[in-house]
Amino acid sequence: MPALRYAAMGRTGVRVSRVCVGTDIQLTPDQFAPVLQRAGELGVNFIDTDYSYAYSGDSGTSGQSWEAVRQWLQGVDRSQVVLAAKTYDPTPDGAFRHVEDSLVGLGTDYIDFFLLHGLNTLEDWERFRPALEGCLRAKDQGLVRHVGLSTHTVTLAREAALHPELEVLLVTLNATGKVMKRSGSPAEMQAAMQVLHQQGRGVYVMKSLARGRVFWEQDIEAGAGAPNQLSHDDVQRALGYVFRCPWAHAATIGMRSVAELEEDVAIAAAVDAETGRWEVAATAA
Ligand SMILES: NC(=O)c1ccc[n+]([C@@H]2O[C@H](COP(=O)([O-])OP(=O)(O)OC[C@H]3O[C@@H](n4cnc5c(N)ncnc54)[C@H](OP(=O)(O)O)[C@@H]3O)[C@@H](O)[C@H]2O)c1
Repeated sequence: MPALRYAAMGRTGVRVSRVCVGTDIQLTPDQFAPVLQRAGELGVNFIDTDYSYAYSGDSGTSGQSWEAVRQWLQGVDRSQVVLAAKTYDPTPDGAFRHVEDSLVGLGTDYIDFFLLHGLNTLEDWERFRPALEGCLRAKDQGLVRHVGLSTHTVTLAREAALHPELEVLLVTLNATGKVMKRSGSPAEMQAAMQVLHQQGRGVYVMKSLARGRVFWEQDIEAGAGAPNQLSHDDVQRALGYVFRCPWAHAATIGMRSVAELEEDVAIAAAVDAETGRWEVAATAA
């Protein structure tokens, strides 16, 4: 089987596995632990988190997904792991507080990538821009290594190109243009990503499978909700599209079982072996 490959996230120089484990998957820490454990064994070193990603357990327990990540981090070498976290707060102090909360929640003393979360319009950008000050303050204090934003739209992927302080971008990309808020086509998103990539930004993607709805006939815009089942051919086609995009350093994928993780890693590795892009390495970072 081809090996999982790694990419340097633009000028940040941070090396990430091409597959990033998404944590908005509504699994309890016990259910998620085997996925994280197997991810580490397969060489995955990149984990995408947020304080708003939560779970509810059968026995009435509930909590935040990062509890599973915190437990997993205790058994691995932190310096070999790349953590992304985010804030929905538009204020400098609120964003800074979310950095501090993330450090506590994840049980670490730094976050590699800290992002403004889910900005989709130019109005969002103007409203949330002050939060960058809090993120940059955290960066000055060594609590955060790099800052950026996540978006579903071509509009903001293009806008990000005008703001060099955004070092890392998480954008929506999938084969059919689902969950892109009707802001443009996948080809237009790829064009915006190309600019960012060529500017030296770190670029990773989400919504590769649109939570299982990537090949639905309906024009869906809601990204949340229960995932829908996909066939192996659908997963191969959808992830094949994303991993063939030369402008995406990695893709964060919601994987709710070890079997899904193994399948997704195998597809990424096979596509990368075929294109010959990215680095083969025994270890990341
Ligand atoms: N910044 C933002 O605005 C934002 C928003 C949303 C998500 N995210 C991040 O992106 C991550 C990915 O979330 P997403 O919304 O983009 O979801 P996604 O990765 O498009 O879809 C995830 C779903 O796909 C299914 N799946 C994965 N591998 C599969 C396989 N091999 N075979 C069959 N089905 C498979 C799983 O559903 P089943 O278990 O039902 O099979 C899984 O729950 C999140 O966890 C989060 O870290 C960020």
